[in-house]
Amino acid sequence: MSAFIPTLKTGRAHPHPEPLSGSAFSAVELMPGDRTVVMLDQRLLPRQERYETFQRPEQVADAISTMKVRGAPAIGISAAYGLVLAAVFCDGPRDAFLEVMSTTDGMLRRTRPTAVNLAWALDRMHRTVVRIAAEAPRERVTALAAEARAIHVEDKLACKKMGELGAASVRDGSTILTHCNAGALATGGYGTALGVIRAARDAGKKIRVLSAETRPLLQGARLTAWELHKDGIDVQTITDSMVGSFMARGLIDQVIVGADRVARNGDVANKIGTYGVACLAQVHGVPFDVAAPWSTVDLACPDGAGIPIEERSEREVSHVTLGESEVQIMPDAVRAHNPAFDVTPARLIRALYTELGTASPLDAASLARLAPPTR
Ligand code: MRU
Repeated sequence: MSAFIPTLKTGRAHPHPEPLSGSAFSAVELMPGDRTVVMLDQRLLPRQERYETFQRPEQVADAISTMKVRGAPAIGISAAYGLVLAAVFCDGPRDAFLEVMSTTDGMLRRTRPTAVNLAWALDRMHRTVVRIAAEAPRERVTALAAEARAIHVEDKLACKKMGELGAASVRDGSTILTHCNAGALATGGYGTALGVIRAARDAGKKIRVLSAETRPLLQGARLTAWELHKDGIDVQTITDSMVGSFMARGLIDQVIVGADRVARNGDVANKIGTYGVACLAQVHGVPFDVAAPWSTVDLACPDGAGIPIEERSEREVSHVTLGESEVQIMPDAVRAHNPAFDVTPARLIRALYTELGTASPLDAASLARLAPPTR
């Protein structure tokens, strides 16, 4: 990696005395005292490792929409921490508190539509909000901070569990393709798809990872490559357009990706480009697996057609950002499209690994068998 630009570290490299992520870096943490959220600005990686601090929930909402923090579980955790910050500024009685919480919830919920973990985390926080609304302001903050940290810690534990389950499917000596970033940067720590890769490595398997660059925002080239290289895992980047050729030449043994929403029938929304990779995997007989926590499963959504797909700015396609400068790569008069996610039908997926078990074949019946009993 001779041309790799050394990371410039600014802000606090270890944002928390004992980061809940448990890694050398954290996507998001709530500082002791419960008044400050710290985030690693992922838009700047791998050139700069810069931590930013936020005291206001609007700043957290902005960080989610502008993708300083991204990845389905990480945006849910961030939104939960955003609600804690709102509570810090509210010393009014029960009704005033409920109104502030409801407005903040709406603001955070609108930031990104596809990953259901965001709504899942806010729904869970809402149950605590209602329970503690009549308590004193400081107690309200303490209770919400405890719930938000529980969401964070449970997500990391879920990643470990699904990692162990998924690792059993990884053959020693294999080359695994992943798309986008479903790692510690995208979760409470350890990662979902990258958790499977980490667990396989920790089980002593020798593996090599190909990280598809993931146009337009290059999460594969910038984030997955950074995170796995930092962790000592053999990783190489290929462009999205090379996947078919690599499969045809027998250079990929398995695909493992994360998810933003899994519908009741097992259809999976994930980063744009995932569907194409799954089709290629089918044609070439390469197993295609998904790893996601149960908070990504949306049993209220019947199938992939019901999953809202986020449309982002054309500018992310028409321009390439290099450090501080943006370069236009298209003629002025030409429009670009930018759906941020696509849907992979369940039939193209060999297995879904969750902390509750494995769904394989992935369909409504296998998901229903894993689902926890409803209260
Ligand atoms: O737009 P992003 O970077 O938030 O998209 C992220 C993905 O698509 C991930 O694969 C998904 O959220 C799973 S993260 C464990």
